[in-house]
Amino acid sequence: MGCAISMLLDNRHALKKVYEELDNHVGKGRLVNELDISNLVYLQAVIKEVMRLYATFSGYREFTEDCIVAGYHVSKGTWLIVNAWKIHTDPRVWDDPMEFKPERFLTGHKDVDVKGRHFELMPFGSGRRACPGINLGLHLTLLILASFLHAFEISTPTNATVDMCQGFGDSNKKSTLLKVLIKPQRPLNQQPQQTHTPILQDQAQRPLKIHSSTVHP
Ligand code: HEM
Repeated sequence: MGCAISMLLDNRHALKKVYEELDNHVGKGRLVNELDISNLVYLQAVIKEVMRLYATFSGYREFTEDCIVAGYHVSKGTWLIVNAWKIHTDPRVWDDPMEFKPERFLTGHKDVDVKGRHFELMPFGSGRRACPGINLGLHLTLLILASFLHAFEISTPTNATVDMCQGFGDSNKKSTLLKVLIKPQRPLNQQPQQTHTPILQDQAQRPLKIHSSTVHP
């Protein structure tokens, strides 16, 4: 989430497009809900692009038998740690690989998803030990980011670029704190009310009612 906000602050044209998309598909009169997410295609592209550049953690594997991989002998017991960042920034696959360009997921790479089927982008890993929380993680990331940006205009205190230096560790922690100025998109005493019933859709696309009370933000 921090990387997504940082990237949007450093790429104001992308931030503007996210705000436009939220205006067009959600509007000012209500809150974002989970059914909006499928319409927020630019925001989805933003998250994929953030994951391409920053979700580069990979699980470890151990060879259970001697193998030949790409002509190399690998002994049983060897540990394998995949360098997902290298794959995600391979210039043979990605144009301008170090640039933040969400648009690539609306054009040339529009059919590439993050669910481990496309080996050029594997923020959740791949195969039998891939992350079992893919759908929850992806959905929550989109819902939280959409709700936050729908509620607040964001900027930096000095308009300086965000320091993206990384700290040490398995997950991609930033080494410095992200400082963000937030301004409510509307006066605090005019917050919209959630007037519809929140629903989830099950596999068969039948609306599944979970509760019917009015939710006050
Ligand atoms: C954006 C959010 C998330 C990202 C980027 C992420 C990423 C990953 C990655 C890269 C792995 C290693 C996969 C591999 O070894 O090939 C993993 C494993 C795992 N993740 Fe996630 N994850 C996320 C959210 C979640 C959530 C929400 C849950 C649970 C509710 C979860 C549960 C797990 C578990 C249990 C494993 C270990 C699976 C195993 O070793 O068999 N993750 N995750």
